[in-house]
Amino acid sequence: MITPHRYAVLGNPVEHSRSPWIHARFAAQTGQALEYGRQVVPLDGFAAHLGTVRQHTPDAPGLHGCNVTVPFKGEAWDWVVQQGGHLSTRAALAEAVNTLKFGRDEQGQPTVEGDNTDGAGLVRDLTVNAGWALGGKHILLLGAGGAAAGVLGPLMQLRPATIVLANRTVGRSQTLYERHRGMCARHGTRLVPVRLAVATLMSLVTDHGGFDVVVNATSASLAGAMLDLPPRSLKPGGLGVDLMYGPAARPFLQWVHAHGGQGRDGLGMLVEQAAESFALWRGVRPDTAPVLAELRALVDAAA
Ligand code: ATR
Repeated sequence: MITPHRYAVLGNPVEHSRSPWIHARFAAQTGQALEYGRQVVPLDGFAAHLGTVRQHTPDAPGLHGCNVTVPFKGEAWDWVVQQGGHLSTRAALAEAVNTLKFGRDEQGQPTVEGDNTDGAGLVRDLTVNAGWALGGKHILLLGAGGAAAGVLGPLMQLRPATIVLANRTVGRSQTLYERHRGMCARHGTRLVPVRLAVATLMSLVTDHGGFDVVVNATSASLAGAMLDLPPRSLKPGGLGVDLMYGPAARPFLQWVHAHGGQGRDGLGMLVEQAAESFALWRGVRPDTAPVLAELRALVDAAA
């Protein structure tokens, strides 16, 4: 009998993660033998935890791979660097890892690969699932934490005209800007780091007549806060995207609708980033459309 390979999502909190459900659907659809669970990791014990769960010996196998979620994506990047593992270009740029793959080299030594599939998931959801073309567009990206870092590089690959990177703590937008400077020159995108403040954004809104796309990558709504944005930040008919879904996405999407925009939450991105991780682990890309439709119905029913 084949022992199923084991995977998990690691985070804190992680109880409400939909990833086990999504990967079970992918496994059934593609006929892959795998188990996917969730592991709550102590806030001060991420590296130690990884040391215990990675695949050790053929007799006592641990995980073949895992997803990493809040608040450990930066620590996962650090860990791969410390292990001398392989980082994908997009994970190296984001300095955040959401997917780890464990293996062995020809000498039987443990190997680790770190990737970040978040940005590719967002881009696929916006361009393929929602049918938006972002080339030449003016984008306002709100936030400069791990979530924003994960999506900035992949968004830039779509060659928008401008990405304004607005964050409450302006130093973090500047740090992200420095890391992506070379890339924005290559892609012909103007990248502008600013403070997330009405007065600053107002002048940029006047420059562009509003942004075509506003992406909320902050965690403000988790603390019940709505961001303070100038009224015409989003062009009428423009796209407002929250990287979260469910109640956490609601305040921002209400703002988008109140300003005549089209709203999209992060559920499609969640399914697409999972598909990208699944493809990295298993070498097979699942069909995301039926999984997203089923998950959408579940989330709507729970609302
Ligand atoms: P994540 O991995 O989810 O991005 P993070 O790295 O802690 O988490 O980043 C959270 C982001 O939300 C940051 O950009 C943060 O702004 P600061 O860098 O100034 O902390 C932003 N954020 C959180 N609460 C906010 C609020 N009430 N208003 C504006 N921005 C907020």
